[in-house]
Amino acid sequence: MNCPREQFQLQVFQRQASLSFPQRFRRDVTMAGKKVQDRTFHIAVVGLSGDERTKGSVGVGKSCLCNRFVRPHADHFYKDHISIISQIDFSGRVINNDHFLYWGEVNRQLEDGSSVTCSIMELTEFIDDQSFQPLRGHGDKDYKKRCKSSLSSAEKLMYICKDQLGDEVNYDRKIMPDGKFVVDGFLVVFDVSHVQNRPPNKQYSFILDLLSGPLSKSKKPCVLVATKCEEPEEKALDEVRALKDKKKVALVETSAFENVNVDFAFLTLINQIDKTKKLPKEVPFINGIKKQKELLDKVEDAYMGLLLRTVTDYHDIWNRTKKKLVGEDHYNTYLKYFGSEIAAKKFKSHTKKLREDKQQWKKQQCLDTLPKALEDMLPDLKSIDGKDWEACKGIMSAHPNYKE
Ligand code: GTP
Ligand code: MG
Repeated sequence: MNCPREQFQLQVFQRQASLSFPQRFRRDVTMAGKKVQDRTFHIAVVGLSGDERTKGSVGVGKSCLCNRFVRPHADHFYKDHISIISQIDFSGRVINNDHFLYWGEVNRQLEDGSSVTCSIMELTEFIDDQSFQPLRGHGDKDYKKRCKSSLSSAEKLMYICKDQLGDEVNYDRKIMPDGKFVVDGFLVVFDVSHVQNRPPNKQYSFILDLLSGPLSKSKKPCVLVATKCEEPEEKALDEVRALKDKKKVALVETSAFENVNVDFAFLTLINQIDKTKKLPKEVPFINGIKKQKELLDKVEDAYMGLLLRTVTDYHDIWNRTKKKLVGEDHYNTYLKYFGSEIAAKKFKSHTKKLREDKQQWKKQQCLDTLPKALEDMLPDLKSIDGKDWEACKGIMSAHPNYKE
């Protein structure tokens, strides 16, 4: 007689065997498919944060990096994210009395056709706009101690931009799922630009401590991200490269403003979390920025060509024209990279040029007919007969063809 455990295994085996091959195959495929689809990569973005004495006059670029990755469209990319806020905004549903921001989820297509879902969180430090001291929120006071692999916050809303604070009802309201964020890996930001009042070596020692202490303890993969690389300070670049060698971590050089290597930084971390996720080929920063410039030039040429073809009358107005352009790929791509404000400005300078061209053309026509008109109205010296310019103008304006 079989024991209960063996009986159970036998039943499972018999059930499996009773399934036809396609049924079993489908089950495996769905299971495999589910495993692939269900995985969401939870990524925490960390870096030197705090008041001006700690980080200098501006932040290291965590928010802009998250923003560019989660909402890359030019209309949804904001360069200005504040961390000096009022107690009321700190207690609102977006900040929720925490020192972290939930940036939401985003899907990215990989080169092999598969896709990954990433959930993004930024660990920062909010400063009271009255006292200029860190606000008292949930969790530890010390930033480094807050760099843990699990954070919770009930009913916390996704952050979009600073104008959203206090005006949440007018923005997309997405709640952080389960009130919890369990980190799979850390992106460790290192600003390589010159920042006023940033104490020398502060960033280097801070990141070194972070990588050697809490992040190493968490046992989660880490990737170093150099930010603002389009305006680097050589010394800072040397420091971040030294950190890369010392801590044996991957380093990706990025610029959120120029949109260079931002996706690559996140995908590098995803690849470290799950090696089956293939990475695109790495592009050195200098080539990345060149490639991006070429792409932008192409996008701009295509949009200008479209305007030339569709807008031929300088009386056209933007509100009507943009409705006509909605279905046009060149227009939509331009919006994605440059944004609607610049698209409208380009339209206005195009119609201004059309008006100037038209005026120039009219003027040229007048100049071309002037000799003939003068010949008609004042054909010889006798018709002028010592008259001054005012008198000549009087003769011409009295001529029957003067108005034509
Ligand atoms: P805190 O959360 O306040 O600690 O700051 P942060 O690390 O989130 O920095 P944030 O992204 O807010 O950027 C700080 C400043 O750097 C802002 O003035 C940004 O506009 C600027 N900045 C961010 N990314 C870039 C970049 O790629 N290039 C340049 N030149 N400036 C950038
Ligand atoms: Mg920030």
